[in-house]
Amino acid sequence: MLDTLGRPVRDLRISVTDRCNFRCSYCMPKEIFNREYEFLSRDLLLSFEEITRVARLLVERGVEKIRLTGGEPLLRTDLDSLVEMLSGLGDIDLTLTTNGSLLDRKAARLADAGLDRVTVSLDSMDDAVFQAMNDVNFPVDRVLAGIEAAAAAGLGPVKVNAVVKRGLNDHTVVDMARHFQGTGHIVRFIEYMDVGATNGWRMEDVVPAAEIVAAISAAIPSEPIGPNYPGEVARRYRYIDGSGEFGVIASVTQPFCGACTRLRLSAEGSLFTCLFATEGHDLRERLRSGADDSALGDFVDSVWAARGDRYSEIRSSETQGLSRVEMSYIGG
Ligand code: GTP
Ligand code: 5AD
Ligand code: SF4
Ligand code: SF4
Repeated sequence: MLDTLGRPVRDLRISVTDRCNFRCSYCMPKEIFNREYEFLSRDLLLSFEEITRVARLLVERGVEKIRLTGGEPLLRTDLDSLVEMLSGLGDIDLTLTTNGSLLDRKAARLADAGLDRVTVSLDSMDDAVFQAMNDVNFPVDRVLAGIEAAAAAGLGPVKVNAVVKRGLNDHTVVDMARHFQGTGHIVRFIEYMDVGATNGWRMEDVVPAAEIVAAISAAIPSEPIGPNYPGEVARRYRYIDGSGEFGVIASVTQPFCGACTRLRLSAEGSLFTCLFATEGHDLRERLRSGADDSALGDFVDSVWAARGDRYSEIRSSETQGLSRVEMSYIGG
């Protein structure tokens, strides 16, 4: 199964809820996600059985990795039951992206249910900076407790994702790399993107990955290393002294659409062929009106076959001068 640009489907990202207990300004700003905002009601969310059915059809079509996301996925009741159902689908890499707030309580059960790994979002080690970014005054310590609980439960190596925004947390990047050096956890710095119900995105707010790499390498000697698998989103760097690695995700300055094998299933049951796609392809109605596997499968095939998304590459043509200069500095 290939799309119009010859890309196979390999990764399925499943959103299990549109709710979150954080209000990160770059993702769910309080001005929009306030008391009046209408989140999805329970009956509009796909059930675990419906999610598992869609996932099975996609595993049959080549999906090797499934990531549970949100909102905040750990807000969904009994998520470990879904993990157990998905882990029964076969030999897939089953992972979860979380803000870590509930992880210390839930890590062990998720691991028992068959979860392989977790990725935890944490934007700064500086409490004032982090609390301003999550905008609900959630402290760094409790996220760190979640990370430790996950590692102890065998959900490692834990990846720690930090979105970097100019003037907000860019001054804490080196400190963060130092904190995770030697812990076995892998921190990855992400260029702030124009996604979400946000936020007046401006190129000036993006800290190019090359600048992040230069700052960290100046403090901790590092060298680039190859990807773990073809199409890996993060570019990896190892510390020369052997104390670990960090990564950068340069979605803005060095887009990776050419190798993008990701398909998204939203909480309300629509397929999205790109992170930036505004229109989904509704599966829920089909699931609930009794479509059989063959009809559902044909629909999924037709959605993927028509896919031609490469939003970040197109956007970057606007910022190409920057990306080329920065790339020479990062060493490709
Ligand atoms: P592993 O290497 O398996 O840990 O996964 P990953 O790096 O694909 O996972 P993760 O979901 O943690 O992705 C990290 C970040 O990269 C996301 O939070 C996004 O900011 C960005 N990202 C992931 N996938 C895409 C994508 O398809 N397009 C764009 N533009 N950015 C993405
Ligand atoms: N830019 C970059 N990454 C983002 N994320 C959410 N919003 C943005 C954005 N505007 C990613 C972060 C976060 C995860 C849940 O989604 O990686 O950790
Ligand atoms: Fe919640 Fe993650 Fe979005 Fe922050 S980035 S508001 S933690 S979903
Ligand atoms: Fe894939 Fe769209 Fe992201 Fe490009 S912008 S990497 S096509 S999800």
